[in-house]
This record gives sequence, structure tokens and C-alpha cells, in this order.
Amino acid sequence: MDKFVIKGPTPLKGKIAVSGSKNAALPLMAASLLADGPSTLHLIPKLRDIYTFNNVIRVTGTKVNFLEEENKLVIDPTHLSHVEAPYDLVRKMRASFYMLGALLGRMGKARVSLPGGCAWGPRPVDLHLKGMEAMGINIDLEEGYVVASIDGDEVEGGEYTLDPSSVGATINLVIAAAKRARKFTIKNAAKEPDVVLLCNMLVKMGANIDGIGTNTLTIRKADNLKGVEMSNDPDRIETGTYMIAAAMHPESDLTLTGCKPEDLGTFPKHFKKLGVDLSIDGSTIRIKSNDNIKPVSVETEVYPGFPTDLQAQWATLMTQVNGKSKVTDTIYFDRFSYVPELNRLGANLDVEKNSVSIEGKTELSGASVMSTDLRASVSLVMAGMVAEGTTEVLRIYHLDRGYENLEKKLNAAGASIKRMSEE
Ligand code: EPZ
Repeated sequence: MDKFVIKGPTPLKGKIAVSGSKNAALPLMAASLLADGPSTLHLIPKLRDIYTFNNVIRVTGTKVNFLEEENKLVIDPTHLSHVEAPYDLVRKMRASFYMLGALLGRMGKARVSLPGGCAWGPRPVDLHLKGMEAMGINIDLEEGYVVASIDGDEVEGGEYTLDPSSVGATINLVIAAAKRARKFTIKNAAKEPDVVLLCNMLVKMGANIDGIGTNTLTIRKADNLKGVEMSNDPDRIETGTYMIAAAMHPESDLTLTGCKPEDLGTFPKHFKKLGVDLSIDGSTIRIKSNDNIKPVSVETEVYPGFPTDLQAQWATLMTQVNGKSKVTDTIYFDRFSYVPELNRLGANLDVEKNSVSIEGKTELSGASVMSTDLRASVSLVMAGMVAEGTTEVLRIYHLDRGYENLEKKLNAAGASIKRMSEE
């Protein structure tokens, strides 16, 4: 396993180009399986999760060709025949569960492994399954697999209210319904940009979806969907992560290119309260930090609210501002694995239920740390970049799941990060 050896403190100066979104790419890949022919997806990041999903899709007999240097993915489901997503692959990446909707949509049946739990506790999929049953899909659980089928060619549909609103369940239900449900309405549907992009791709393929971008989606089955060319969105969480990383050092002056600021929802509004100089001009975002950043408490919400995927990064930033602040996660109640690790670097965080209280400013000093999920891990890297001395972040395969060329991008902007083997 690899680790990062980080020397700090270093400001971030210069330019970073944002990559394609991991969380938006995965649903586009699943939706491609519904088409009569090949689809070409652009701005697909070279990430572990993309390679994993490519392999999950290949198990079905679908041809997947990843033209890595062009970040282009060609998926041709013409010879899709095997309606299964096996445990040894699904357990590596929860979003493989989208194969349930994709295989049901295309073949009318599916045998998909339940995803494993996730680092911050079990990640249920009950809403996916209840929504599909509401649609008229037969769902059975056998030996850790979901065995699903449709009687005949289509299902009645009906309606289902998601409680809580779930990104993954919305995605899975839309993909399952696009070719199969006479009329299916999802209430309290997620409206994250990832969901909007998926719906726009399906409509381009020939699907019938009303309410795109709202909390109520109505899908009416289309008999045939064709392969399309589609560009993925830039990664809004990567964008937010680098914005926060820049704010952590008073002399940072960082320009992010290739962004889609409108996908950040209310995040810029919270960010501006820091007192950091933020300018947004088209697809370019510039952050000039200073030594008088203010403590800003936040509460995560579904889109367009403050994203839970930036919760750990924000709490890490708050260790570097003078004053008290509080970060509450209303989406995941125990997504705080980074806290004991930050405290080992000298931070002063205290978790109470689904909130972390931060007492800043604390001088951080280098140590060996590790975490067990993607966003917690990147927060430890951010802390290491401002800590005095050398910080080792272990088990960085988590980072390789969600941040394309992380150390290359940060080093080009002035960081000092070396990837080494842990042995
Ligand atoms: C997606 O996960 C993202 N993953 C997550 O990003 C993100 O944190 C999450 O949405 C919330 O925005 C991908 O897009 C691949 P949910 P998802 O279903 O779809 C509960 C990252 O770091 N729930 O919206 O799995 C669930 O427990 C990852 O990139 C049920 O109760 O999230 C949670 O409390 C981490 N039953 C809430 O809903 C269900 O059947 C929101 O989860 C499904 C979800």
C-alpha cells in the first residue's frame, strides 16, 4: 500500500485544472447499458472507482474501452447477456449497485450483490429496493444478492416518496424506469447535479422524464434508447476541496480552471463568509487567502445546501481560523473518522452526536495519520500541507478512488507531497 509523505507548511499558488466528476460519471456509465448501441462519455476521470465500475460492467458481456489519455470512455452494450454484478466487485464500490437499475432496465432481470457497509457505518439500500417494488418490480434477497425481475415487458409504475431523499436511490430508480415503467413518479427525489446530468443524458437517448432539476421526477417508458455522446460534469467536490485547501494557508493564491460554479449550490455563499478573496469568472475560480479568516459554522444539507462530501474538509479548515465553530452533518451521522487523526496533528476537535466542535487556531505538527474514507483522507492531506514538519498519510488508495492526479496537481501549486510505498 502507498502513503503520502508531506512536508509543510506550504501555501497553494498557481493553477489547478479540475477533473471530471466521479459521482456524476458512474450513473452515466450505468445508463449507457440501456442503449441499443455504443455511447461515448467525455471528461471521465482516471480514478480507481471508474476502473472498478468498468470491470463490473464488463462482467455482463458489454464492451468497455477507456481511452485514458483523452479521458474518454466508450461503452457498447450490444452483446450484454450476463445479468449479474458479483459481490467481489460490488463490495469494492457501492455505486456498482446502479447495475440493478441498468440490468432491469435493459434485460428485465438482474442478480446484483448488496453493497458492503461503508467506512462510516452501514450504507443501507432499502430505499432503492422499496422504490423498485413500488414500481412493480419483483425483488428477492438470496445469499447477499438482490434477485430482481419484471413480469412481462413493463411495469405499471405508480409513485414512491424517498425518505430521506437519496441520490443513489433516485439514480437507480430513474435508470430502472426509463425503459420499463408506464408512468413512475419519484417524490422527494434528489436534485444533485449528478442526477440532473443523468436525466439529461437519458432524455438525449430518447427517454421521457419530466421535472428534471426538481424534487419530483416523472418517468414514462421509452421503448428504445439510443447510444449518445455525452460530456461528464467537472467534479464539484474536487472543486470545493481545492477551494478549502487554498483557504487553509494565509499566503495561498490559487486559480481553479475547468470548473462548473453553478454546481456548487450554496457552497460559495458559506465560503465568502470566511473573508477569503473569492472571484468566480465563467469556469475559473480564484481564491486569495489571508491571515484573518473567520470561523464559519455549517450544517450539511441535500443539494443545493452545503455538501456532506465537503464536511471533513471544512472542519479541517476551521482548525486554522481563530475562534470556535461547529460543523454538523445531517446526511451521515457518524462521518467523523478524520477527527482523532486531526487531533493527533495538534487540532482541537470534539465530536458530539452528528456535530464536531472546533477550537481554533491550532498550530498543527506533522505525524503519521490515516483514514478510512475518501473525504476524510483528503482532509488529512490538507492538514499535512499546513502542519509544521513531515506528515505521513497512510492507505492513500482511498484518495486514488476520488481525486485524479492529486499529488501532481497540488505539487504543481507549491505543495511538497511524495508518494511512497508504506513498506
Ligand atoms: C452519494 O452516495 C455519493 N456517492 C456520496 O459521495 C454522497 O456523500 C451522498 O450521495 C450524499 O450526497 C456517489 O454518488 C457514488 P444517499 P449515496 O443515498 O447515493 C440514507 C463520496 O465521498 N439512505 O444520498 O449512497 C443514507 O444512509 C461519496 O464521493 C437510506 O437510508 O447517498 C444517507 O444517510 C460518499 N436508504 C442518506 O440516505 C437508502 O436506500 C443519503 O444517502 C439509501 C440511502
